[in-house]
Amino acid sequence: NNATVIGGKSFTAVAINCASKAGEWIKTKLGNYASLDIKYSSHDLVTEIDKGSERLIRNLVLTHFPHHSFLGEEGVEPGPEASTRALEDVREAEYLWIVDPIDGTTNFVHGFPYFCVSIALAYNGEVIVGVVYDPMRDELFVAEKGKGAYVHGKRMQVSKEETLRGSLVATGLPAEHQYALPLNLKGIQAVAPKVRNLRIAGSAALHLAYVASGRLSGFWEIGLNSWDLAAGSLLIQESGGVVSDTFGKPYELGVRNVVASNGLIQEELIAALAEAKANE
Ligand code: IPD
Ligand code: CA
Ligand code: CA
Ligand code: CA
Repeated sequence: NNATVIGGKSFTAVAINCASKAGEWIKTKLGNYASLDIKYSSHDLVTEIDKGSERLIRNLVLTHFPHHSFLGEEGVEPGPEASTRALEDVREAEYLWIVDPIDGTTNFVHGFPYFCVSIALAYNGEVIVGVVYDPMRDELFVAEKGKGAYVHGKRMQVSKEETLRGSLVATGLPAEHQYALPLNLKGIQAVAPKVRNLRIAGSAALHLAYVASGRLSGFWEIGLNSWDLAAGSLLIQESGGVVSDTFGKPYELGVRNVVASNGLIQEELIAALAEAKANE
């Protein structure tokens, strides 16, 4: 397949190598980082480990594929405007790597063992490889466009749950408190009473991987970025699930307000958010 192999080097193999190397290193630094910076509020953190992980991944990717483009969270100014601009700048690239070097930085900082490395490769704007690695559980989630998605080398399938009532669903508490957090809180108020229960564990990418593997039946969050979503979205699509914006428009790289599920509860989840006006 020409889209996924160049010069004998598989894109997926490089993505896996990057995610596992970065993940192993991050794990050794748990509870052991040196500098904690605030990005634009005390809800939005970065450590030298986030930056080091991104540097490691960037160097490895560009050593293999020097002509590819690279978009990583820590290379972008904080805030939704800057991240939208950063994506627009590279979106047209033939090959674009989209990387969240630690998804779940707040958890990492507090020693709460739920965070991951998220790496996606887009080809002409479409995600073709998605890798999410949880170093604490040594769980590697891998998807290739059209070839399925795997965890521990085993094919993943989304849950078969047909109703919100029987669903375990996850969401997030966005760091941006002007627009994204209030809307998401509205959504939580609307959705929590309708589902079996709700989880807010602090890593969007890992929540998406859990939807892909059937551990969760759905996930939504307002105000995410391309690096939170790109890899996890392919994991879900390749496991038989659905990813869209809060109005049901199919996922593409620019989506920030996301609804993802096994497909069966997608409409019900979108309707619950719409009813509460928690969708835009
Ligand atoms: C954050 C996490 C969190 C979500 C935030 C994200 P970061 O990413 O995914 O679960 O609620 O909206 O920004 O900053 O830890 O990479
Ligand atoms: Ca961050
Ligand atoms: Ca993130
Ligand atoms: Ca991050």
